[in-house]
Amino acid sequence: MTEAAPDTRWFYLCTDDALAMPNAFVTTRVGVVPLVAQNLKGRVVAFRNVCTHRFAVIHGEPTGCGPLRCPYHGWTFDAEGMPTGLPFNPTDFQLDAEGRRRLALNPASLARCGRLVFIRVATEGPGLEAQMGAEIFARLSTLSTTFTRPVPEVEADIVPGDDWEWFETANLRVALRPGHTLLLEGLPSPGADNRFVRHAAFRSAPADAEMPA
Ligand code: FES
Repeated sequence: MTEAAPDTRWFYLCTDDALAMPNAFVTTRVGVVPLVAQNLKGRVVAFRNVCTHRFAVIHGEPTGCGPLRCPYHGWTFDAEGMPTGLPFNPTDFQLDAEGRRRLALNPASLARCGRLVFIRVATEGPGLEAQMGAEIFARLSTLSTTFTRPVPEVEADIVPGDDWEWFETANLRVALRPGHTLLLEGLPSPGADNRFVRHAAFRSAPADAEMPA
């Protein structure tokens, strides 16, 4: 049975590097709602990952790079969620400007804590800092901007030991070995599967940077 998740709750999605390239996207699910964050011409925006025409899922992969284009009839959506590219529109769909506006994608919400990106189903609700608490928000923001060097894939199989500090916020588990390594594990939101687990490991930069208390 799918566990319900509040639409107003924030969930960790990715680091901002994952959305830095034009057309880069990251998807997740919150409860039964598929969501996507995507870089469209330099703007990072979030929508329900569901086409408004016949309700197909737009991006089926957890991450990738490509236009925000529905695989079913090939409609392409812009950063406002408007369908702008409609193959065979004159013969098959006959959508004018008003018709396109009515079929704009449903927006979702994005928020950042330092370099970390969080997503929410609802467009209105408490902010990310309010959900985390000011202290955790500030700490995580500082950590995310201190640990900026991705750990190479060959070294990425790090097992935190007793000398590591742990804390959790939203669906994010943070493991910290001060001065050495920051591990992030984004657990799937309720109702989502393990395809949406996110792991990332970083070292501090520069190596002798002072650690936030
Ligand atoms: S279902 Fe998406 S374009 Fe038709």
